[in-house]
Amino acid sequence: MAMIFAKPSMRTRVSFETGFNLLGGHAVYLGPDDIQMGKREETRDVARVLSGYNDVIMARLFAHQDILDLAKYATVPVINGLTDYNHPCQIMADALTIIEHIGQLEGTKVVYVGDGNNIVHSWLLLASIVPFHFVCACPKGFEPDQETVKKAQQTGVSKIEIIHDPKEAVRGADVVYSDVWASMGQKEEAAYRRQVFQGFQVDEELMKVAGPKAYFMHCLPAERGVEVTDGVIEAPNSIVFPQAENRMHAQNAIMLHVLGV
Ligand code: CP
Ligand code: NVA
Repeated sequence: MAMIFAKPSMRTRVSFETGFNLLGGHAVYLGPDDIQMGKREETRDVARVLSGYNDVIMARLFAHQDILDLAKYATVPVINGLTDYNHPCQIMADALTIIEHIGQLEGTKVVYVGDGNNIVHSWLLLASIVPFHFVCACPKGFEPDQETVKKAQQTGVSKIEIIHDPKEAVRGADVVYSDVWASMGQKEEAAYRRQVFQGFQVDEELMKVAGPKAYFMHCLPAERGVEVTDGVIEAPNSIVFPQAENRMHAQNAIMLHVLGV
């Protein structure tokens, strides 16, 4: 497997590399300075060359169009390891974690608090297939992509709400989910975002409003003291570490599926 990383990573890199090794495969890490897809060489050339050496390609990229192009020109399966638009492997691991802790995803209330980013888009895509109640509480102007929300709502599979009041959002939640306010590629906006996102920190008070059955989840890496308090991450109902471990188990299933094993 060729693993192309245009952005940094701990979980995605290590879980794919270790996971593929456990399945009997061998993974090659290609960091931001290695192949420089789109800069040193065109994506369509990279796709065909790597397809000649590998049975599968996994890529973490900036523009979503780049992974679509990679998949279009590759002759082997391409797995999305995160783009600016979505993060499907993360949401597969999250679903597995919810099933392990609650018993099922169907019918649960999952409340995401923060930026309407790539993680939210993957939740919306999942909500188009599996019925649950998904709420995204974000500041005005930081909503997820309108087209993606509309499409997910039009499927009628899940109840989907995009609102701006975290307290109202989390009432009766089975899961409260958080992510960084400034994603990779937005770090120069971090100071500004910290101001705009005031009131969207998941703290002990917000978890109290959610109620005693609510689990806390975060895709990690987390900025403790920013989008979430240290106390919430370390609390007994925080399942962020089983969630991180599940990246590997979910992805192993994805790899077996795409390889037709
Ligand atoms: N959650 C996640 O994708 O982590 P990394 O950025 O460390 O891979
Ligand atoms: N929204 C975050 C997720 C990191 C796993 C980012 O894109 O940086």
